[in-house]
Parts: sequence; structure tokens; C-alpha cells
Amino acid sequence: MIPPKLVRIPTLKTVEAFGEHVRSLNLDLQFEKQILTGEASALTRPLQVNGRTIGNRWAIQPMEGWDGTISGGVTEPMLRRWERFGQSGAKLIWGGEAMAVRPDGRANPNQLIINEANQSGLALLREKLIAAHRALYGRTDDLFIGFQLTHSGRFCRPNEKKKFESRIAFRHPLLDKKFGITGDTGIFSDDELKYLADDYIRAARIAAEVGADFVDVKHCHGYLLHEVLGGHTRAGIYGGSFENRTRLAREIIEGIRAAVPKLHIGVRLSAFDFVPFKPNAELAEPGKLGPGVPEDFSQCLPYRYAFGVNETNPIEYDLTETVQFLKMLEDLGVRLINLSAGSPYYNPHIQRPAIYPPSDGYQPPEDPLVGVARQINVVRQLKARFPNLILVGTGYSYLQEYLPHVAEYYVRHGHVDVVGLGRMALSYPTMLADATKKGRLDTKLICRTFSDCTSAPRKGLASGCYPLDDYYKHGEDAQKLKEMKKGKGAKL
Ligand SMILES: Cc1cc2nc3c(=O)[nH]c(=O)nc-3n(C[C@H](O)[C@H](O)[C@H](O)COP(=O)(O)O)c2cc1C
Repeated sequence: MIPPKLVRIPTLKTVEAFGEHVRSLNLDLQFEKQILTGEASALTRPLQVNGRTIGNRWAIQPMEGWDGTISGGVTEPMLRRWERFGQSGAKLIWGGEAMAVRPDGRANPNQLIINEANQSGLALLREKLIAAHRALYGRTDDLFIGFQLTHSGRFCRPNEKKKFESRIAFRHPLLDKKFGITGDTGIFSDDELKYLADDYIRAARIAAEVGADFVDVKHCHGYLLHEVLGGHTRAGIYGGSFENRTRLAREIIEGIRAAVPKLHIGVRLSAFDFVPFKPNAELAEPGKLGPGVPEDFSQCLPYRYAFGVNETNPIEYDLTETVQFLKMLEDLGVRLINLSAGSPYYNPHIQRPAIYPPSDGYQPPEDPLVGVARQINVVRQLKARFPNLILVGTGYSYLQEYLPHVAEYYVRHGHVDVVGLGRMALSYPTMLADATKKGRLDTKLICRTFSDCTSAPRKGLASGCYPLDDYYKHGEDAQKLKEMKKGKGAKL
């Protein structure tokens, strides 16, 4: 595979030039020609969910910072991040950040834990966010805040930053090798999964007590509940058939509903997946990671180790079961759905399209706009099937200057309900507030997808926007990150 020659978005000086570029890639990616403001912008229109109002059409995606205390508690940089989420003007705060439902389910020793001991800290995060929002925008009754509940499964590193203590749903022919799993000891038994549902229910109760409007029962990015959905080869009551693979989701959702009936429930889902990718070392330029290529899956066909993937050609998606799962969620009364894709650990280019790869990634195997359009068009297809679900779309940050134009188009035409901001929320939280109020952007703050926010935690540092946010740019970790990037083998 020849790596593509990439056109950088900032070189596209006009919306016409952006359109030319989209056409040259033969992409179905639509956009408005202008940034619209005030009531003329569909992004400012409120939305009703189960009797509550969400005041506009952009959300802050969950963004963790690898910066909690080692007991999973709240810290000053975390409070700052949540304040900035509040300042963003977004009326939907999807999850805040991943919160582990139990200590051994953390993806890193600094991940938040949602337990009684951390309850007052969690309440403070929410209060700071609301106060920051009120200070800039006045009204807060149309703000809808959720907490994201997670168990990191295969990607658990609860005690040491570099040591996986994986808990898995099934043995995986490619991921086991990639992440050093050599035996069956980490496999969750059926009984353990059954009890795990209680941890989610207890966490949801805490979320309700500290004032969250909803919880996100996270099913994305390769973490445990997402992996369970792909457990075609798992035996027992949580594996094999679709009915079995979705049993845990049902038990958790029904359990939360029974325990805390007033709490709303959402699900963030990787709507599709591909096989893991790796850098092709033979084509690597000096000092750089090679371009991404799929791991050799020829011995793993039909590919029965993922969710939402074409079993015969697992570098294509298949939405058959995604549709079935959304139907099941709708029948369970879950209307809030946030759609993402793949995993940052094994195919980051489909999950968070970027021009510069994270340190554990690879050079883009496709123009990152292809990845953006893939996610947007999957959401569009699913919205057409599920007009009554509230769908939040993901993967917009790579659009940079043209994010407001694209967001406006898809919201205006009803192809997505709410546009989520991930990396852009770290560098430029008020992007869509500026767009819809002033009709222009502060281009100095636009995320250019350098991936430092991912590379830093991969190197054991806190996440944040090192290139553009002064708080990180001038902090002590910035120097460490710079040295690591220069260091031999860093290959960023
Ligand atoms: C630093 C960082 C932290 C993230 N933390 C979370 C998280 O806690 N939970 C989650 O579901 N996704 C998380 N994500 C994924 C984002 O929510 C989002 O899906 C991704 O960045 C793609 O959207 P974007 O193009 O707007 O950045 C994180 C991404 C980054 C870069």
C-alpha cells in the first residue's frame, strides 16, 4: 500500500478550496458554504429528550486526562478541564470522561473511579462545570450532563502505567499478540460478569446522587463491554449468539433503571470496527513511524472477533448487528446514543482521524478526511433507520476550519442530532460558541491533530493540548514530552 500524499487542511484557504479537496478524494462529505449564526444556525436549536431540553446541538465528548489521584480522585487539572467543558457553550456534556466502575477496571492508575470515596470530588467536577457555564451563558436548566461508566477490560492498567492487567471476554488471535496476552487467566467468567453488572448499578446510583442527568454505559473503543459485543467465539451465557453477547448490556441497563429510575441512560458505541493496524516498517521514512497497514488477518477468517465488522473482509464495516443492537436499546427505552468507531489502541485512524500519528500509531493509511466522512456517513445511515434516537456524531475535529460548515450541514438536514467535539474541546472549547455567535473562529486555537494529547499518556504523562493550551505548553510535562519525541525510538 502506497501512503497517500496528504493535503493539510490549513493550506485550504477558502471553503471552495476545501470543497475541491473533498471532490478530489471522491468523498461524500457535505458542508454549508458559510458559518451561520444565531437562530439561522441549526446548531443553536434545542432538542427534547425524555421531557428534558438540551439547549443546543453540540456536545463535549468524554475526554480523560490521565490526571486523577492514584485512588481515582479529582485533581486541579481535572477541575480545570471540566470548567472548560462548561465554558464551551455545549449543552450536552457526554460523560465528562471515562470513570471506572471499580479500581481494577481502570485503564491507567490515574483514571477516575466512581465510588463513594470520590463522591464529593465528582460532585465538585459537575458544580464547577455548571458554574463556568452559568458565568458565560446564564441559563443552565438546558444543560444535560452525563457521567461515562467504564471497565477497561483488555486495556486495564490499574496499578502501573506500563503494565497491562488485562481482563478479557475472549482470546483474540491478533490483539492477544499485540498486547502480550498469553493465557486464559484474564478471561472473565460468567459469574464475574454477572457481578460486574452490580458495579455499574452502584456507580449509576452515585452518579445520580451527585446530580448527573444521565450515565453512559460505555460500549466503545475496545473496552470491556465493547469487546463483549464481539465475543462470537466466547462460550457460555455472554458469548456466541447476538442474544448472549448483548445480555450484559441488558442486565446493566435494566439494573440501573430499576435502582435509579429517574436517571437517564445513554450508550456510547463503536458502531463499527476494523482489524488492528500496525506501522509498515519497510516503508517508514527515517525517524518516523511507517504507514498503517492491517495486521495479517488471513489466518483469522471468518473474522469473528469484533463487532460491526465484515467477517469476510474485516477492513470493511458491516452494520447489520449495529442496527440490531440499536433496535434493542430503543426497545429498552435508551434514546441517547453516541456513535464512535474502532479503538485508539489498535486502529486509531478510524477512531480519531489525525494527520500526525500518536506515538503508538502509524502514519495515516488514508487521508484523514476519509475517516471523518466514514464516521459521518455511518451516523447518517443509522439516523435514517432510527429517527427517534438522539444520535451524537464523533470524529469532527480533523475538519478544523471547516468543522462548523460540516456540522451545520449534517445537523440542518437531520443526519445527526448533535455534533460531538473531542480533541477540539481541548484546544478550543468555545469553537462552536464562537462560530454560532460571531460567525468566525480564532484560528490560533484550532486543533491541528498533532496527537500529543494521545502520545503524552502513552508515555506516562498527563493528557492535554500541549501545542496550543498554555497550561500544558508551559507545564513541566511539555519539556518531558519534547525530549521523549526527540528520543531514539520515539518515532512520533
Ligand atoms: C486525550 C483523549 C482522551 C479521550 N478520552 C476519552 C474518554 O474518556 N472516553 C471516551 O469515550 N472517549 C475518549 N476519547 C475519544 C474522544 O471522545 C473522541 O471520540 C475522539 O477524540 C474523536 O473525536 P474528535 O475527532 O472530535 O477528537 C479521548 C480522546 C482523546 C484524544
